[in-house]
Amino acid sequence: MPSEKPRLIRSIRLPVAAEKRIETDFIAPPPPDAPLDTPALLALAEKEQASAMLVTHHSPLRGADVAAIPACVKLVATVSVGLDHLDVPALLARGIKVSNTPDVLTDCNADLTMMLILAACRRAAEYYTLMKNGWGHTLGMDEMLGLRVSGKTLGIVGMGRIGQALARRARGFEMKVLYHNRRRLDPAQEEGATYFETLEDMLPHCTILSLHMPGTQGAPPLMTARTLGLLPRGSVLVNAARGSLVDETALIDALRSGHLFSAGLDVYQNEPHPNPRLLALPNIFMTPHTGSATVETRTAMSMLALDNVAALAAGKPLPSPVTA
Ligand code: DGY
Repeated sequence: MPSEKPRLIRSIRLPVAAEKRIETDFIAPPPPDAPLDTPALLALAEKEQASAMLVTHHSPLRGADVAAIPACVKLVATVSVGLDHLDVPALLARGIKVSNTPDVLTDCNADLTMMLILAACRRAAEYYTLMKNGWGHTLGMDEMLGLRVSGKTLGIVGMGRIGQALARRARGFEMKVLYHNRRRLDPAQEEGATYFETLEDMLPHCTILSLHMPGTQGAPPLMTARTLGLLPRGSVLVNAARGSLVDETALIDALRSGHLFSAGLDVYQNEPHPNPRLLALPNIFMTPHTGSATVETRTAMSMLALDNVAALAAGKPLPSPVTA
């Protein structure tokens, strides 16, 4: 009975298993060739009379966009854990349900964060550039030296699921782990890390700092000239959370002056067009917002988003609702 299948649209093509499921279980237009922007998404929802929209951070829904969502839409299912591209209170106030994809991307994001830590400390970008240019001379004993990772002190800001998963990985590197969070966790969740009530108190103890807070639209950055200045000279900043957490001008200054040894970044203030001054720095390792970018994880995220659409259509509770 095709007419009873839920009608959905998506802002971006999903991994192959999820696209196959859409073909069999849902009514949907073909996947877009390129990510849809918000006006195109809303127009498509109206045209298709979709009851659910699968979105990512490429198509933000805030302010006037929320008011412009057609009445047929009953669910915004974001294929992400982050919610900073959505005005959740406004969506809920309009009676539109919201779901996201927590848990399924935790390990993948923590893996990528560990990669950023290792790459930033061990000068992966510079070594790779040297090799691509043909290498050509034996490196001296004191030439292009990195920072040893094993045994270093890692500060984690935001000890949610991903922060805890990173702490577990850091233990394998015999790192000392500190964390700052808006509240102290139960000892069983702390993964052996030491709690600091304030960020300012923790920063001077960190050789490597990794950010794992949600981004909040319009909020001032957490890492500014002042807070970066509290890190010890020669430390490393890693961010696989949200670009809005870091004042990039202050970061560039800290990397140029040598106050920071290096940085590892997956997220940027202006995506997908990062600051050219960041790109020009040698002591930075950068990836293009790919914390969840594995076949397994992107498939699991997409399937969970589709589970939410199916649950809505069946009148069942959403498996991963966003409630506030
Ligand atoms: C997430 O899931 O929030 C990722 O950062 C993709 O936006």
